[in-house]
Amino acid sequence: MIKECKLGFLGAGTMAKAIIKGIISSEIVPKHNIKASEIMPETAKNTAEETGIKVISDNKELVNSSDIIILCVKPHAIESVLAELKDIITEDKLIVSIAAGVSTSSIEGIFDKKIPVIRVMPNTPVLVREGMSAICKGKHATCKHAGFIMELFKATGGCIEAEEHLINAVTGISGSGPAFMYLIIDALSDGGVKMGLKKEVAIKLAAQTAMGAAKMVLDTGKHPALLKDEVTTPGGCTIAGLSVMENEHVRSALIKTVQETAKTASNLG
Ligand SMILES: NC(=O)c1ccc[n+]([C@@H]2O[C@H](COP(=O)([O-])OP(=O)(O)OC[C@H]3O[C@@H](n4cnc5c(N)ncnc54)[C@H](OP(=O)(O)O)[C@@H]3O)[C@@H](O)[C@H]2O)c1
Repeated sequence: MIKECKLGFLGAGTMAKAIIKGIISSEIVPKHNIKASEIMPETAKNTAEETGIKVISDNKELVNSSDIIILCVKPHAIESVLAELKDIITEDKLIVSIAAGVSTSSIEGIFDKKIPVIRVMPNTPVLVREGMSAICKGKHATCKHAGFIMELFKATGGCIEAEEHLINAVTGISGSGPAFMYLIIDALSDGGVKMGLKKEVAIKLAAQTAMGAAKMVLDTGKHPALLKDEVTTPGGCTIAGLSVMENEHVRSALIKTVQETAKTASNLG
């Protein structure tokens, strides 16, 4: 039962804090079963205050007191962090890594034991339980391990299982995607300001529209192109706007955005 598992977040920065808050508000794991370790005292204090969990500075203590160890450090730190801990990580623990670009095999290769590893690519809206995560299993992880982690991340939004070779593509759409959406919402609201709306009103219009459109795609199951055609009347306002987007190559810019992000993620490993 995931509720009874002891979760240990190694690294308590932005992403760890967002996941912890999402898990706590979903009540899938009680707060007293979640702990974190962090080397930066300022970050540790901030995460402890904002989440109400215990944040310690000793990674070995965290490993010893956790069933599932969730690696939330930057990709370049993964190897050195695990090298220090490899002797005390046993096969009954589950390692979960959210590091962009770091493969399950590179983590497994650090150990001379069959340590189960699950790789997850989440995004920051896990904080408000509207995250989107993708998971994949390493070679020693079982369906039961994957089921646990799927259940955990589904409590913070959507979660799918993906083949590992596609995880960098996932990073390009949903991992880094919130930043792309913020830029689009900000740009649309600037358009509103140009046409006389107050910025805060324009942001609300743009953000709620983005959320509504996303919900239409998810709830109706209709192809986005079909939904677009349904709101586009001949000679109307919407086609006037859409033709500007096509002339300015917005579609092609977004395709290249995902491509470049995925490429950068693959170089991190
Ligand atoms: N941010 C996102 O939207 C997002 C989305 C999906 C996946 N990710 C992945 O999530 C991971 C964390 O990203 P983040 O944005 O949360 O980074 P972050 O805010 O920098 O958090 C990482 C924290 O871990 C600390 N740390 C580093 N080495 C440590 C060690 N040996 N022991 C304990 N703590 C240590 C860092 O301290 P220092 O600052 O001193 O290094 C930092 O406070 C990355 O691997 C990233 O690829 C991020």
